[in-house]
Amino acid sequence: MRAARYHQYGEPDVIHIEEVSAPQVPAHGIRIKTRAASVNPVDTILRSGRAQELLPLELPAIPGRDAAGIVEEVGVDVTGVKVGDAVFGLGGVSDTTAEYSVLTAWARIPSTWSFEQAAAAGLASNTAVRGLDSLGDLKEKTLLIDGAAGSVGSAAASIAISRGAKVIGTANQRNHAFLKSIGVIATPYGPGLAERVAGLAPQGVDVALDAAGAGSLPELVRITGGPERVTTVADHTAPTIGVRLVNAENESGTLEVAAALGEAGLYLPRIARSFPLDQTIEAHILAQGAGTQGKVVVAISA
Ligand SMILES: NC(=O)c1ccc[n+]([C@@H]2O[C@H](COP(=O)([O-])OP(=O)(O)OC[C@H]3O[C@@H](n4cnc5c(N)ncnc54)[C@H](OP(=O)(O)O)[C@@H]3O)[C@@H](O)[C@H]2O)c1
Repeated sequence: MRAARYHQYGEPDVIHIEEVSAPQVPAHGIRIKTRAASVNPVDTILRSGRAQELLPLELPAIPGRDAAGIVEEVGVDVTGVKVGDAVFGLGGVSDTTAEYSVLTAWARIPSTWSFEQAAAAGLASNTAVRGLDSLGDLKEKTLLIDGAAGSVGSAAASIAISRGAKVIGTANQRNHAFLKSIGVIATPYGPGLAERVAGLAPQGVDVALDAAGAGSLPELVRITGGPERVTTVADHTAPTIGVRLVNAENESGTLEVAAALGEAGLYLPRIARSFPLDQTIEAHILAQGAGTQGKVVVAISA
């Protein structure tokens, strides 16, 4: 099969398109004919080598943590999914930017999403659901999301609104119309956040989710009134101030939550741009730059 691969850590140009063996399906996984894979922040960080002490990769490595496609083989221990189903989900730490990939957590693609949108939902929606679950019952609560226009942030916003929360979200001005379109009260991030939020939620903010990792945790703790009211998915300093750090896990249940919302028309993953496999380098360059509005995806096969 054709795959994007790098033999050494470095800038995006370490990626080459190569002919490699297709992966074997494990007992607890499925093999899909990949239609699209997304480029998440972790993919560019791993490729750069910046995380090699924490998360060393076996090189050569195929980038990509999530994907969408058609089930082509089912592991012997797997039930509830069959060859020919259209699914999205999570692979290993890497490995999905290839004509075939293995998923160990998945859900059916809702009829409202393209393969590219489904690929963009994998890691982002899993992380968003896990982050929100850690904040308890959201019905009639006011939730502040820092980085609400990002992939994780906007997934979290849509899911929280469906759970009955009022959501205030921070974003660059260029994303305020997008946030409004999904039901979020938008405000800029950065200095003066507490004052702006007090104006938008005079009754106070119950809980907050940091989906940006931009150093706002002390401010979010002040705004909500305590570290136990705050969760981050992106700031590893969290434990030093008593804030929860939640990470993605390969579990299908979170993806099914996102898919059900998609089917109901309540969550549509946002795509910045789609590149063909041959342009995976360009996809990584765009994804690691600032200001992308939505997920960068690699479309792999028709
Ligand atoms: N723990 C895990 O397992 C896990 C899983 C997935 C992602 N993550 C992490 O979660 C973060 C978000 O991922 P993503 O895929 O959603 O990335 P993304 O789509 O690039 O979103 C990041 C968002 O951060 C916002 N932002 C930039 N500067 C900011 C600032 N100073 N204050 C507040 N917000 C700011 C941006 O908003 P504007 O575009 O409006 O400027 C952007 O929408 C990343 O750090 C990623 O590594 C962690």
